[in-house]
Amino acid sequence: MLNVIDHPLIRHKLTVMRDKNTGTKDFRENLDEIGGLMVYEITRDLPTKEIEIETPICKTKADTLAAPIVVAPILRAGLGMVSGILSIVPTAKVAHIGMYRDEETLEPHPYFEKYPHHMEESTVIIVDPMLATGGSSAAAIDMVKKQGATNIKLVCLVGAPEGVKLIEELHPDVDIYLAALDDHLNEKGYIVPGLGDAGDRIFGTK
Ligand code: PRP
Ligand code: URA
Repeated sequence: MLNVIDHPLIRHKLTVMRDKNTGTKDFRENLDEIGGLMVYEITRDLPTKEIEIETPICKTKADTLAAPIVVAPILRAGLGMVSGILSIVPTAKVAHIGMYRDEETLEPHPYFEKYPHHMEESTVIIVDPMLATGGSSAAAIDMVKKQGATNIKLVCLVGAPEGVKLIEELHPDVDIYLAALDDHLNEKGYIVPGLGDAGDRIFGTK
């Protein structure tokens, strides 16, 4: 299911990021901050369990998270959302999924993967700022499913309808979270209006 997280702070920060005159430092900082704001909403349905603890006053029952959380950035651009998410969920483990999109064919090419233990019992949050054709995210979801993950969320900043459609077709069990659903893809597979090449803007590359 698609969830567009609509919040004035997220809209404001995304506007800064979309502006072509925004430099690397501000782009990176705003991405990180949006990651932190989005994760509060994304984790709303995490399972909890009751445990017994002792406050300074008495014994009581209280809730704690029931399952481990794994944040899985798609390299490179997904890295830009990790520290914002970890600032809210500091106990999360971090997987890494290395993937690049061929500029001509727009096909995803995985080149690296590394996971923590117990993927099968974890809530896995795949993060990538851009959901364009959806090829990279769909491939990343396949990869974490091969590791046994069944509770998967896909968190992107900006999505195109084409990418949302692909994920909904291939992985209907995965909830998609966006800060904005944009209009369409251009002939080079870039999101319109979008924000350009997220990886290059985060890392200052060309
Ligand atoms: C970008 C982006 C996504 C992918 C989206 O990464 O960060 O991973 O493209 O496109 P898709 O939905 O059509 O697959 P890119 O391959 O440019 O790598 P980078 O993060 O290293 O810049
Ligand atoms: N990857 C990006 O970084 N930006 C787009 O608009 C599409 C894919």
